Amino acid sequence: MSIAIIYMSKHGTTEKVAELIKTKLDSYQTHIFNLKKTKLIDLAKFDTIIIGGSIHVGSMQKKLRQFITNNMTILLKKRIALFMVCMEKSEKRDEQFNNAFPAEIREESVANGFMGGEFNFDRMNFIEKAIIKKISGKCSNVIEIYYK
Ligand SMILES: Cc1cc2nc3c(=O)[nH]c(=O)nc-3n(C[C@H](O)[C@H](O)[C@H](O)COP(=O)(O)O)c2cc1C
Repeated sequence: MSIAIIYMSKHGTTEKVAELIKTKLDSYQTHIFNLKKTKLIDLAKFDTIIIGGSIHVGSMQKKLRQFITNNMTILLKKRIALFMVCMEKSEKRDEQFNNAFPAEIREESVANGFMGGEFNFDRMNFIEKAIIKKISGKCSNVIEIYYK
């Protein structure tokens, strides 16, 4: 089985999670693609495609959403799994997930991973730090990645 993990990450957490998923699938042929750096992915080469991104101010990366829309026909012929990195929990998290991925792909997904997230103040700009302080009350790094 050949697997592609396709992701986008702003401050590195989704990248970490994508690498973690890759190590857990080490008995398969797994390729990892950061959409920020990779323009063309030959999806035809893969049986299974795992797609993930992170939530910033309620939305997932636009480029990742566009990638899904542009490749919908071929993606729907594959085994698909989805994952999301974010700090919200329960209903708000589910709502973000439903907004992040189109219904067609969610309906076909064989597994959905809610991976938790991080507040990485070292990677945030001034405005991002101010937003996070205001909405969460936190002003130092928080790590809440679900490793299991
Ligand atoms: C400016 C900013 C806004 C954020 N907004 C949300 C949000 O609306 N909902 C949420 O669940 N998490 C939110 N987060 C938390 C991120 O999803 C979390 O930091 C995640 O680990 C980022 O992953 P990345 O580094 O791969 O982009 C926000 C984080 C930042 C810095």
